[in-house]
Amino acid sequence: MMLSTHFAVLCSLVSLVASAAVEPRASGLKLHTIATQKGKLYFGTATDNPELTNTAYTAILNDKTMFGQITAGNSMKWDATEPSRGVFTFTNGDVIANLAKKNGQLLRGHNCVWHQQLPSWVASGTFTKADLLSVVQNHCGTLVGHYKGQVSPSLTWSSSEIMNDDGTLRQDVFSKTTGTDFIATAFRAARAADPNAKLYANDFNIEGPGAKSTAYQNLVKTLKSEGVPIDGIGMQAHFIVGALPANIQQNIQAFVNLGVEVAITELDIRMTLPATSALLAQQQKDYQTVIAACNAVKGCVGVTVWDFTDKFSWVPGTFAGQGAACPWDENLQEKPAFTGIVNGFGA
Ligand code: G3I
Repeated sequence: MMLSTHFAVLCSLVSLVASAAVEPRASGLKLHTIATQKGKLYFGTATDNPELTNTAYTAILNDKTMFGQITAGNSMKWDATEPSRGVFTFTNGDVIANLAKKNGQLLRGHNCVWHQQLPSWVASGTFTKADLLSVVQNHCGTLVGHYKGQVSPSLTWSSSEIMNDDGTLRQDVFSKTTGTDFIATAFRAARAADPNAKLYANDFNIEGPGAKSTAYQNLVKTLKSEGVPIDGIGMQAHFIVGALPANIQQNIQAFVNLGVEVAITELDIRMTLPATSALLAQQQKDYQTVIAACNAVKGCVGVTVWDFTDKFSWVPGTFAGQGAACPWDENLQEKPAFTGIVNGFGA
């Protein structure tokens, strides 16, 4: 008994010494405060309803100096909000919206139209073009209208992932039935429902120059020329350690030059496990590169990580053998990636 007690004490001492020698585990630095000092609107994170029972997690999440903005990871999506046609349920989404309000955090609405997490009545439904456009209009209008004015200064709503990597239109229920018309319908319905909400198109693999980024720049030009309201481009930024696209800053600037703002909306940088110190050091550099790119462009308004802790990251569930993508580890300790974010802001 005595022996095991001493052993336990010794282990704690060793781990304290080891962590002190490697990296400050809770630096006292606050990412939202730093981002706003650099002229950004926010530094934010995604979160999800099941996580909110973890008090160590919420202690960090609810600190508005750390996160000035939150996004619902799942609970405002179509399957959660309109599971049957015309039947809307906002219970879980409201929990996230009310949390943002209570904490004094901005809220990003996520999302109006996406090809995933659709209820089967949409994904497998048979619609005429007019019928599906009316379904999109009713969904976006009701969803955005429900959250109108709930958070100051404005909600940001995104449509999501409408293009393939080669810049062609993704073939899903919306495009197969309506061509590109669902895009304008969604944006117009959202603008009518909440004129103060910023409206974004949001996608991955558009962070660096290439066919998909060019296609989105063309989409911005087309929508603007047709009078369709679009305010911003969301670059998701789900990256792999050591494999960032080149010229992120220039690519952000290219969008800003078209008259839209840009946000990094879902940042995480995954690695093949186990997380070695070399991989964590490269991840620190990669986080710094992404943040520095946004920091350097005035029209890049903010950065959101796709949850802040490896404990709740979507990565291991989707990419077998990969993970450790977030700036906090599974024990809610700041990783070298956290320092990379601070350094990226030049703080
Ligand atoms: O709600 C069910 C639960 O009832 C069930 O027991 C459980 C069993 O697996 O699944 C739960 O649903 C999961 C859902 O998250 C809620 O936790 C789904 O399986 C799971 O696939 C889903 O993953 C989400 C994923 O989108 C879906 O593609 C992730 O949490 C979410 O972080 C992720 O987020 C997306 C963005 O919205 C858009 N951009 C890409 C990003 C990463 O995929």
